[in-house]
Amino acid sequence: TTASMGLIGVGTMGSALALNIAENGHDIALYNLDPSTIDDLISGAGDLAPRLTKTESVEALVAAMPTPRAIVLLVPAGGPVEASIDALLPHLTPGDTIIDGGNSDFRDTMRRTERVEAAGFQYLGVGVSGGEEGARHGPSMMVGGSKASWEPLRPVLEAIAAKFEGDPCVAHLGPDGAGHFVKTVHNGIEYADMQMIAEVYGLLRDGEGRKPSEIAPLFHCWNEGTLQSYLIEITGKVLDGVDPETGKPMIDLIVDQAGQKGTGRWTVIEAIRMGQSASVIEAAVGARVLSSERVVRQAASKVLAAPDTTTAIFDEGDLESALMVGRILAYAQGFRILKAASEEFSWDLDYARIAEIWRAGCIIRSALLDDISQAFRSDLPHGRLILADEFASLLETHIGALRRVVAQAVTIGLPVPALSSAVSWYDEVRQARGTADMIQGQRDFFGAHGFRRLDKEGDFHGPW
Ligand code: 6PG
Repeated sequence: TTASMGLIGVGTMGSALALNIAENGHDIALYNLDPSTIDDLISGAGDLAPRLTKTESVEALVAAMPTPRAIVLLVPAGGPVEASIDALLPHLTPGDTIIDGGNSDFRDTMRRTERVEAAGFQYLGVGVSGGEEGARHGPSMMVGGSKASWEPLRPVLEAIAAKFEGDPCVAHLGPDGAGHFVKTVHNGIEYADMQMIAEVYGLLRDGEGRKPSEIAPLFHCWNEGTLQSYLIEITGKVLDGVDPETGKPMIDLIVDQAGQKGTGRWTVIEAIRMGQSASVIEAAVGARVLSSERVVRQAASKVLAAPDTTTAIFDEGDLESALMVGRILAYAQGFRILKAASEEFSWDLDYARIAEIWRAGCIIRSALLDDISQAFRSDLPHGRLILADEFASLLETHIGALRRVVAQAVTIGLPVPALSSAVSWYDEVRQARGTADMIQGQRDFFGAHGFRRLDKEGDFHGPW
């Protein structure tokens, strides 16, 4: 039997997803704290309106749905998810499934899965990417939960998902928290890619003194080439935006303080906890943090010295290559984190499949992901993306451009935290003999921690 569909949380994303579900032939019962959003949705739904049912409480929502039920939560992560589960549990029937489609912390999802299953019901933690447009016409969905919960819902989730050449961008990736973890890392990569793009925008704006209308064409052009991706596309469109009130470029009127809801930060925290470096993603999170200290930055801009030369002309091909290489390295870091988590939690993640379901619908969709999925389908040396033939040669061809862009930016005093982290990470991972011999020497000097030698087996101390 196909489950009947319900939705708690009818905001922007919820409304869009409800229409998507309805359009795919399912009736859907709706509940929202503020009922007026449901009225707005139904009155604007046209032909789909008869499929949408407004309910006045969680209890009424459950009562309005035939069994078995599948109830999607699209409410803010944290307290609201917990409260929705609290409200649902007393009314459910065995066979019902709660689907959390928000950006929940995967540890919460693990705990909630256990709780809901112990109460006799099923739980799926689904990372949903693609914003409003994705929710309406096809998001990318990363599913975590038991196979028994996934299988009956697979047809409806495949129907509403984005399609890449016909292949639905949804997959069951592992148990309980696996889907939300993969979505978290997706967002970490999203943060990194957005930050590197913002850095290049900054070089053109502040290094070359270009107006938005003189930067936009570059992004439009890049979107036709190897950088082809949703984020490059919308960057060009953001730069084209004109404020209808003042006639000025919209971007010039936006306050330079970035918000963040947690997923980027969680990626970095989990990476470090698992002994992984996520330096490009960390730089992106750090940049958002510093962006919020606007008053301090403005004071510092008057006090702290700038270099003598503050302008430069950047080679456009170099900027394009720098973004390409930076993007590859951010993905490489993201997939390392996924591998570490997969091993720690015994998830057996399918990296190729993850790259495949990111090819359409989600925010980080890009031409590159098709190549990444193919690389993971082949036998990767040490399981590392940057060692795949195709990626190694791409890096070799374009890394010089990244070096030149970063060097130029540093010389004129413009910040490129994510791009410079990318090049440093590249140089670290390809250094056959690193500099940790010195760290070991220091540790042994002050704490007698011992070290291993290159020329013989055993644990040694130095002559200091
Ligand atoms: C997506 C986005 C989406 C949302 C995040 C971004 O994949 O569709 O990642 O989930 O935009 O909330 O998070 P910040 O608000 O932290 O930028």
